[in-house]
Amino acid sequence: MRPADVLACAYGWRRTKSDGACSAWVTSEGEGVPRLCLKAVNAGRERRTHEIDKAHLNLLKEAAFLSQFSCAAFPRLVEVDRDGTCLLMEKKVGYPLSRCEQPLSRLCRLTVLRDLLLFAQRFGVRGVIHRDIKPRNIIISRANASIRACLIDFGSMEWVSQARVDHGPRRSKLGNGKYLYQPPEQLLSLYDRLGTAADIFAIGATFFALEFGQPPFRNNEANPRIVLASYARQENQVWRTIVARKSLEWLAEYLFALLRVDSRLRLSDLAELVGKLNVELVRSRWRTEA
Ligand SMILES: Nc1ncnc2c1ncn2[C@@H]1O[C@H](COP(=O)(O)OP(=O)(O)O)[C@@H](O)[C@H]1O
Ligand SMILES: [Mg+2]
Repeated sequence: MRPADVLACAYGWRRTKSDGACSAWVTSEGEGVPRLCLKAVNAGRERRTHEIDKAHLNLLKEAAFLSQFSCAAFPRLVEVDRDGTCLLMEKKVGYPLSRCEQPLSRLCRLTVLRDLLLFAQRFGVRGVIHRDIKPRNIIISRANASIRACLIDFGSMEWVSQARVDHGPRRSKLGNGKYLYQPPEQLLSLYDRLGTAADIFAIGATFFALEFGQPPFRNNEANPRIVLASYARQENQVWRTIVARKSLEWLAEYLFALLRVDSRLRLSDLAELVGKLNVELVRSRWRTEA
C-alpha cells in the first residue's frame, strides 16, 4: 500500500509538532488500527526551494537509514515514495522525552542514558552520526514494568565520511539559542572534527537536561568565534554544576567527559560506562523489588 493510499484510509490521524520542513502524522490508538507514522515534506508557499529539496533529501536519507538499521528501538520502515515526498514507518508508542509531565525517576533517567549510549555504540561501529539527538527525538515507551528509549528522526543522519566534507555554508542561523543539544563542532560546521563524538555530546546534553531541567550550554551568540569561546568559558560552570549534585556520585566525571567542548577530549570508549550503568540498573531494580 502506498503512503498516499494509507492516508486516504479511514484511520484517525493526529498531526504532531514538527521541527523542520516536514510534517508528521501518527495513527490514533484503537483496536485494529495499525501503528503508523507518516512523515511528508511541507511544500507550502512560505518554504524556499532549497529547503524543500533538503527536506526531500533528508526523508530519503531517513528511509535509507531505517531500511539498513533494524533495531527494536528505531521505527521500522514501511514504505517511502520514490521521490522522497513521504515516508511511512512504524509509530513508536509512548511520549517524547521533552513532554515528560513529571520528573523521571533516577532509574528511568539512567535507563534513558544507558539506551542512548547503546545506540551511540552501534552508530560508532557503522560510522553513522544521528546529528539530532535531543529530548524531542526520543520516545519513551513502557515495556512491562520498566521503560525503554526509542530514537526517531533520522533525517539529519550522516555517514562520518560524508560529514567531514564541507557542504558549503550553513543555512541555519546561530544566535537564536536553538540547537542546544548540538556540540560546538557541529554548530560551527567544523567539518574536520565532526564525527561520532557529536552524538556523544548530544546524549550528555540530553541527560544533563533530565538531571538539571535545562541543557548545559547557552548559545545565543551569532558570531561563530564568540560561540566557541563562550562554550569554552561555560565548561567550568558545567563541571561545577555537575559536581555540586551529590546524587550523581560516580557518574559526575563520566557526564562531564560526555560534554567536553573539545571533541578530542570527549569520552569515546563507552563500554565501561555502559557496563557500570547496567550494574547500577540491576541493583536499583533489585532494591525497588525487594
Ligand atoms: N516513528 C514515530 N513514532 C511516533 N512518533 C513519531 C515518529 N516519528 C515522528 N514522530 C512524531 O512526530 C514529530 C516530528 O517528527 P520528526 O521525525 O522528529 O521530524 P522533525 O523534527 O524533523 O519535524 C516527533 O517529534 C514525534 O512526536
Ligand atoms: Mg524531530
